[in-house]
Amino acid sequence: MTDHLTASDTDIDRAASLLREGKLVAFPTETVYGLGADATNDQAVAQIFAAKGRPHFNPLIAHVADLETAWTIAVFDDQAERLASAFWPGPLTLVLPLRDDAGIAPLVTAGLDTIALRVPDLPLAQDLLRAVGGPVAAPSANPSGKISPTSAEHVIEGLSSKIAAVLDGGSCSVGLESTIVGFEGGPTLLRPGGLPAEAIEACLGAPLRSHTMGAAPTAPGQLSSHYAPGAAVRLNVSKPEDTELWLGFGPDCKEATLNLSPSGDLVEAAANLFGYLRKLDYLATEGQSIAVAPIPAHGLGVAILDRLTRAAAPRP
Ligand code: TXA
Ligand code: MG
Repeated sequence: MTDHLTASDTDIDRAASLLREGKLVAFPTETVYGLGADATNDQAVAQIFAAKGRPHFNPLIAHVADLETAWTIAVFDDQAERLASAFWPGPLTLVLPLRDDAGIAPLVTAGLDTIALRVPDLPLAQDLLRAVGGPVAAPSANPSGKISPTSAEHVIEGLSSKIAAVLDGGSCSVGLESTIVGFEGGPTLLRPGGLPAEAIEACLGAPLRSHTMGAAPTAPGQLSSHYAPGAAVRLNVSKPEDTELWLGFGPDCKEATLNLSPSGDLVEAAANLFGYLRKLDYLATEGQSIAVAPIPAHGLGVAILDRLTRAAAPRP
């Protein structure tokens, strides 16, 4: 049975104890719910891969309460330091050289000499991380390849029998996973996400390099189908077919089954994206599929389109 924990101090302590005991606890962040395990305990981290059905070569993000803790785990150059100061806590993950003495379980980094680090902004996540007193490894709390969870109910739907507890913090305000930036060969966008690339580039005063797919697994872009609902998905549709449920965006989509943002606000659309894809998937009957209205490719629209493109990709 999965414990359904609330934001009370007793429940936060309970969640922290379970994590310290090597158990899996799902917890909210401002981006999506994470499936947490003690990042210093290889056996605990191994359970994340088992529960999600996630390939072991795909490394995890370690979550810490503050920049000071992050310094003890990874090496920050000037640009990394600048981004961390500007955007942490927040929806940004930095991939940095791992310190030898960091004590991170090898499974977290999949044996790489870099580590993905993030300081989440949600107070409940921060309280939990402080109560644990160390780094918590957490991918999104969904079965591998499925839609990321933005509520405790979503987590329970996908993983209930496989985790000790879920800490319920309500709906995630950002609704898209963090933006991932690496620094090998200069600041590079590894995954678009909840922090628009434009904001990062303005902070650095230079454009981000874009990640060219290499042989080594990095961000989930390497997997063709990801964030996939059961129903088929078609993009950039202004006039849906009779057999399609229409996911709208903006004031022109009056006939939409659901509208990500009737006013055309990308922040609102991002927050609604995963929940609405789930709803349409429940609504879709045999033979029905999902058609998505055009979404502008700037700001959070880039990350929204990235997730939708994966949802629409051919299934393995
Ligand atoms: O918002 C988020 O980022 C959420 C919340 C829970 O923090 N987490 C999340 O984790 O989206 P996940 O595992 O679904 O995506 C993290 C991605 C992985 O796909 C992995 O490829 C990449 O980060 N990653 C982790 N460590 C890396 C490393 N050392 N080098 C390159 N990419 C790395
Ligand atoms: Mg994920």
